[in-house]
Amino acid sequence: MKLHATAVPQAVSVDLDHAILALSDALDFIGVDEIGHGHRVALMAALCAQSLEWEPDWRHRLVRAALLHDCGVSSTREHRALVDEIVWEGEHAHCERGFAYLGSVPPLAHLAPIVLEHHTPWAHLRHRGVEPSVALTANLIYLVDRADAVHARGVTEGKPLLDVLGRYEDSHFAPELMVVFRDQAMREAFWFVQEEPTLHERVADLLGTAPPVPLSMVEIKGLAGMFGRIIDAKSPYTERHSMGVAKVALRLGRHFGLPSATLDMMEVAALLHDLGKLRIPDELLDKQGPLSAEERRRMARHAFDTYEVLRRAFGDGPLARWAAFHHEYVSGHGYPFHFDNGDLPPEARIIAVADVLQALAQRRPYRQPLGPAEIAAILDGMVFGGKLDGGVVEAVKQDLDAYWQDAVAQEGGNPAS
Ligand SMILES: [Fe+2]
Ligand SMILES: [Fe+2]
Ligand SMILES: [Fe+2]
Repeated sequence: MKLHATAVPQAVSVDLDHAILALSDALDFIGVDEIGHGHRVALMAALCAQSLEWEPDWRHRLVRAALLHDCGVSSTREHRALVDEIVWEGEHAHCERGFAYLGSVPPLAHLAPIVLEHHTPWAHLRHRGVEPSVALTANLIYLVDRADAVHARGVTEGKPLLDVLGRYEDSHFAPELMVVFRDQAMREAFWFVQEEPTLHERVADLLGTAPPVPLSMVEIKGLAGMFGRIIDAKSPYTERHSMGVAKVALRLGRHFGLPSATLDMMEVAALLHDLGKLRIPDELLDKQGPLSAEERRRMARHAFDTYEVLRRAFGDGPLARWAAFHHEYVSGHGYPFHFDNGDLPPEARIIAVADVLQALAQRRPYRQPLGPAEIAAILDGMVFGGKLDGGVVEAVKQDLDAYWQDAVAQEGGNPAS
């Protein structure tokens, strides 16, 4: 069977700050009902840095780091723990994860040392030999991060909030930062500006002043790989899911002879297809048994949220669609857009098959991982039911073991046990 690839531009042009802005929206989803944490932290920190008269480059790095500071948090449970306690025993784990994620992506590696220290009390940090601008940036993020947590718990802005945080001056927060934060926090405008739509507009303005930093395809893939790991870390059941889907999709793309520019974009789309899952509460994602109508709605919106974030990051083009259409059926009875065979690009149909195959090859709360023969039978049933593309499933069946190995492979390429 031949597939007609969607025509894609040879070079996708993506600016680093543009991508950070869009992808930080996905991180902010982890707040579930309290979304926007990273944006509020970035804006509060930037307003304080302006008062501190930090240089523009320094402020720019601060905003980037603030938007991504919680990239080490994937689980909504951990996010809740971070909001519920001012100081919490397990808080450093997410700093270390964030450090590792950012350090692995060259265009973001300069932010890693800041994120590593964003919960280190000032009394320790000042003696750790950390470069002063890094230490102050990390501590400012810590301070406004805790301000947002205290605020989210219902403590009134202004003096009551300052009374709570003031107890941690010197021990946790640098006195010179507390001075400017006190001044800012007593102004009503400091809090009003953190409400939507001003919040998003102002944060975009903060990053809009610097010259664009175009990313190469290798860098885009690196960024997508990092977010794929963040998505997969949400649940032990989805470990390596995004990477496995990308591997299967790539093998399928090569089988159908898709051009290399298409393969590159399809890999990025596959790594990011479940980005919207960051908004699904952990309890719901791991739930066994039937879902209520409201729970089903919450689940269904993840593909829509993927679409919205990716069209902001990469434009309203093929990449966002290939990723977001992974639960559409060729019959038109999938979700959430209800597109059918005529609307679904081949790349989206490939990712849809790769998604099902990888999920079946992996353990789920309600079943053991399935082997190649069981998976082939289920895929056939889904073709028969008008869910998956028959030609794509046929290609999988021709080389079943190789696809199954891709689906379950560990990062080093060894099959999972
Ligand atoms: Fe945070
Ligand atoms: Fe999904
Ligand atoms: Fe998926």
